[in-house]
Amino acid sequence: MENRLRLAAEEYVENLFRHNAGGHDAAHTFRVRGLAMALAQTEPTCSRDIVELAALLHDADDPKLFPTEDLANAQAFLVQNGVAPDEAERILHAIRSVSFSRNQGRAPDTLEGMIVQDADRLDAMGAIGIARTFAYGGEHGRSLDSSIQHFYDKLLKLKDLMNTPAGKKLAEERHAFLNAFLDELESELHNSG
Ligand code: NI
Repeated sequence: MENRLRLAAEEYVENLFRHNAGGHDAAHTFRVRGLAMALAQTEPTCSRDIVELAALLHDADDPKLFPTEDLANAQAFLVQNGVAPDEAERILHAIRSVSFSRNQGRAPDTLEGMIVQDADRLDAMGAIGIARTFAYGGEHGRSLDSSIQHFYDKLLKLKDLMNTPAGKKLAEERHAFLNAFLDELESELHNSG
């Protein structure tokens, strides 16, 4: 990818999320990009450019943050920065499959979508996942118990939903860390009551 395009996407993300803190901020997007590029290394047939732009734009139209329809933010960025229409369509398709399957429980139908979805899920696991869960809980006035419930409702299920072999392997490690944290928490709660 041309560096000009990469820099423009990074700047776009910084600006878009500048009023957000906690779970969904620019730092989350940049971690997802980093994880996605690491996974892409292990999948030689994927398009690295599609993976990188889809990762950078994957939350640009998150309905929890932006009132856009049909990925209008991502689309506008790609058009304004001269990305070829067929490439832009592949990027948008990958982004759509990441969130579509989040709602419908269906796996993405392209390798690039699978990679970005795995990266997004990995960022909800491990130490980062724990930090994000409590940051989000605090932001929304949730009790400690309700944040912990989120581990059982969502985070502990992610390991079995990974698409790529490299994603599965990283998810196993982060899953083990989540369990270790919950064990320690449980023992501290029991010994301080
Ligand atoms: Ni995300």
